[in-house]
Amino acid sequence: MSRFSMCVRLGAVVALVAAACRPIPTPSRPTKTSTEPSKAQVPAPAASMSHGEAPLGTPMTKPDRAADAPTPLAGHRLRLRMTTVHVHHQVAPGVVYDAWTFDSMVPGPIVRAAVGDTVDFTLINGAPIPHSMDFHAAEIAPDRAYHNVMPKDSIHFEFVARVPGAFMYHCGTAPVAAHISNGMYGALIIDPRGGRPKAREFVFVQSEFYMGAPAGADSVRSLDWDKVLNASPDYVVFNGVNNRYATTPIPVKAREPIRIYVVNAGPNRISSFHVVGAIFDKVFADGFGRPFDGMQTWNVPVGGGAIFELRLAEPGVYPFVTHAFADATKGAVGMFRAEAH
Ligand code: CU
Ligand code: CU
Repeated sequence: MSRFSMCVRLGAVVALVAAACRPIPTPSRPTKTSTEPSKAQVPAPAASMSHGEAPLGTPMTKPDRAADAPTPLAGHRLRLRMTTVHVHHQVAPGVVYDAWTFDSMVPGPIVRAAVGDTVDFTLINGAPIPHSMDFHAAEIAPDRAYHNVMPKDSIHFEFVARVPGAFMYHCGTAPVAAHISNGMYGALIIDPRGGRPKAREFVFVQSEFYMGAPAGADSVRSLDWDKVLNASPDYVVFNGVNNRYATTPIPVKAREPIRIYVVNAGPNRISSFHVVGAIFDKVFADGFGRPFDGMQTWNVPVGGGAIFELRLAEPGVYPFVTHAFADATKGAVGMFRAEAH
């Protein structure tokens, strides 16, 4: 069997299966700005329907999101305001996880600016424990910007993006592996000045979940620290959900230019990103250098990102995976469905 056909077969099998860097010491220094209430702390009203008195339970992460990249920033100042919230997150059908989040999402908001733009950032801690923010796109003193924010407190800082790329952001509070494993990460896309050529654009954040047994009346799972230290996740996923785009393939057109921003949040597993049935025309690692042309698979390091450009040759279904296939089998798989142009 050729490597290509083996690849396709493996992809099909997986489809059928359809799933701080910087430890910041505590206690933190005082933060700059005053307390602001979190929406998550406000009790949800009873549902305005029959049986509206039934308990609504702990808030869940926000509903499913498309993989589409956000539109480029208009203007030169990205005003970002995020709230840390602890909510339940459904990783797979019937598998609910006690997540720590930015803005009740796993991953957190996908955001975008360009080289030379100012990112104006406020973090509000609406959770009961300290959290923080670390932007890999920033060049900034961590002890000024990335220190812990206590519950009900907030922090504000700014930076000017200098380098284009697909950058991770994450909570940097120790133990960082726990905060990342629990869901506190996202992607900040930095465009080069003048932008990139027109294409269909998608963002995939790969990450891992390490779970204990379901517990409590809600059968919610929480972090298994030994599994984290052994780098042995239960799920490895794109955009927070097991087999997310395998169950609902992403529609594209054959031959249209596609650009994929991949950020690997980890916290432990390298992403060997590959699209079955395609070869990347260009892969941009971080930075200003020339892209690599004609690549089959590219490793996205933990805490790193890469930008992939390709066209799908003909109508059909094209799985995308981490070619580390234990991880693909654990959920890091999706599909493009290419239709005729
Ligand atoms: Cu980091
Ligand atoms: Cu945190």
